[in-house]
Amino acid sequence: MLSSRASTKLCVPKQLSRAVVPLLHQSTLGSPGFRVAALVSVHQHGTTRYFSTTPVTHLRDFFPAKETENIRQTLPAWPHHGYTEQEMLDVVPAHREPRTLGDWAAWKFMRFCRWGMDLFTGMEKEQSVDKKNPTTAVNSIKPLTESQWMIRFIFLESIAGVPGMVAGMLRHLHSLRRLKRDNGWIETLLEESYNERMHLLTFMKMCLFMKLMLIGAQGVYFNALFLSYLISPKITHRFVGYLEEEAVHTYTMCIKQIEEGHLPKWSDPNFTVPDLAVKYWQMPEGKRSMKDLILYIRADEACHRGVNHTLSNLDQREDPNPFVSEYKGGRSPPRPASKPEGYERAEVI
Ligand SMILES: [Fe+2]
Ligand SMILES: [Fe+2]
Repeated sequence: MLSSRASTKLCVPKQLSRAVVPLLHQSTLGSPGFRVAALVSVHQHGTTRYFSTTPVTHLRDFFPAKETENIRQTLPAWPHHGYTEQEMLDVVPAHREPRTLGDWAAWKFMRFCRWGMDLFTGMEKEQSVDKKNPTTAVNSIKPLTESQWMIRFIFLESIAGVPGMVAGMLRHLHSLRRLKRDNGWIETLLEESYNERMHLLTFMKMCLFMKLMLIGAQGVYFNALFLSYLISPKITHRFVGYLEEEAVHTYTMCIKQIEEGHLPKWSDPNFTVPDLAVKYWQMPEGKRSMKDLILYIRADEACHRGVNHTLSNLDQREDPNPFVSEYKGGRSPPRPASKPEGYERAEVI
């Protein structure tokens, strides 16, 4: 389908060239952060559009539906639990002030990661928010472009999918080694990494790039987190809590800019989100815009934020996972999305 010659410049297959040019803002392409970008594919008007700055031999439909003789479809292993509209609208950016030295280390390291992401995505000064309140301030002088948002989403999601898997795996090994029950943590952690992977795959359906970064994320970041979780699961959960604060903040800003009309390609009534997303979140008909999708994803991030800040507050060896526990006296289980700073141990154990 994509047969034009490899190029490091703007490379658009001939048959699609007329449809593609408006997809990305040219000025973004010139930014240092975007030189590694490879492919954007947006489903619009029933067609798929492509855009590339890397050799076209790398371009393909990354997630073709696998046709087999007997299987009709493969459903998600962890079906999404769903949200009410109000639950999604109630999510707000928030911040848990560091209280211990470990919290402080996690927070400072998160600031460093955010600085790296801003640099990598070619963010201009006018596009950033008040530095004193980096996870709660949402006003900036200049909005980001759709392509800049997409880079940030993919950067964020590829990072976010790792900790749950590392933590789940280490707790699994710990349980095998010590012949001790895990008390329900593993499933929540693995489900979190599954959910993050769905976020990433959804965006990859629309934009595919930064392969090097993804390899880096697995090669370096996975091992760093592996060590960090062995040394201090508490600080690692706190770090993930801060990462999720960033995620809620990022998606809140994006929703705001869509509502203010700064991202017209995503507000186009003909724009539809990928099928993968419709199936996973069971998005109802008429609620399948980019803003709807981001509301779902933001609510997921708010859950991860509450879960990880809470897990960091618990006794890592002994305490059961409050989010899958049944409480005495008919008390309902904790709701992490509505608790940005996480539950204190005394509140849930
Ligand atoms: Fe995510
Ligand atoms: Fe998350």
